[in-house]
Amino acid sequence: MAAVTKLAYMGFNVVNFEDWHTILFDILGLEQRADSPQGRTQIRYDEYHHRFTFIDSDQDSVAFVGWEVDSIDQFNEMYAHLADQGIGVELASDAEKQDRMVLELMKFKGPDNVPYEICFSPFHDNQPYTPSCPRFGGFNTGDLGLGHILYCHEDPKEAVEFYRNALGMKISDYIHWDEAKATFMHCNPRHHSIAVCNPCFGTGAGELNHFMLQADDIDDVGRAYDRVEQLNVPLILTLGKHTNDKMTSFYMITPAGFAIEYGYGGEEIHDYDNWDIELYNAPKIWGHNLVE
Ligand SMILES: [Fe+2]
Repeated sequence: MAAVTKLAYMGFNVVNFEDWHTILFDILGLEQRADSPQGRTQIRYDEYHHRFTFIDSDQDSVAFVGWEVDSIDQFNEMYAHLADQGIGVELASDAEKQDRMVLELMKFKGPDNVPYEICFSPFHDNQPYTPSCPRFGGFNTGDLGLGHILYCHEDPKEAVEFYRNALGMKISDYIHWDEAKATFMHCNPRHHSIAVCNPCFGTGAGELNHFMLQADDIDDVGRAYDRVEQLNVPLILTLGKHTNDKMTSFYMITPAGFAIEYGYGGEEIHDYDNWDIELYNAPKIWGHNLVE
């Protein structure tokens, strides 16, 4: 069955990119591409040409979320698969492919009109990623992709079916707590590349709740947590450890209102045949306290 294999990149419309500098560069140590096109700032943190695009705009919103497939055959198969399912998929223009820096690209709307894309063969840069602040290690990407995202959807059950049937995601597990019912899904060994939740905790239908970046070294997360305190960066959740993916992480609030989770040590699913799909009654083992 046609399936995406990685979360590849994201694009955000932003009113004032300067407001993002502290989180992106002083806390996370990402690299701003000096050759970014006019009106757009491209950000990298591994061998990819860029993983994030910040687009000068009069509103803060998600511009696009890019998934990836691993071959041109998979790309063509996915295009036919989405079209068969009645999803209005279209091939992107050369200008859009150039902007995302990918060889092939298709676009379509997900549940609640989330602007999804699927690419094949993102450009890799022959220059090493240069962190904007000292780091012990890199980011955990490669075959596991960019990280993960959590979207809230008006009809979470229908959305989960979309991610399963259209994108080929597999269920990892579930967490039900307070007002939230979340389903976690994977498309590679990363425990989840997407989680789906009902609208809750101030995140509406079709809105991004957070995306997650994973460090290879826990000391990078710890040092970043120190800098969060020093630089008064607002948190939504303090340092803690998740029940399901065992990630040790904290959550910062971005100028757009959604959060960035920064963590270490996420579980991987390598043997799905013997994986038990659990329902947890809490998202945390310890910490992750809500900052009001
Ligand atoms: Fe997360």
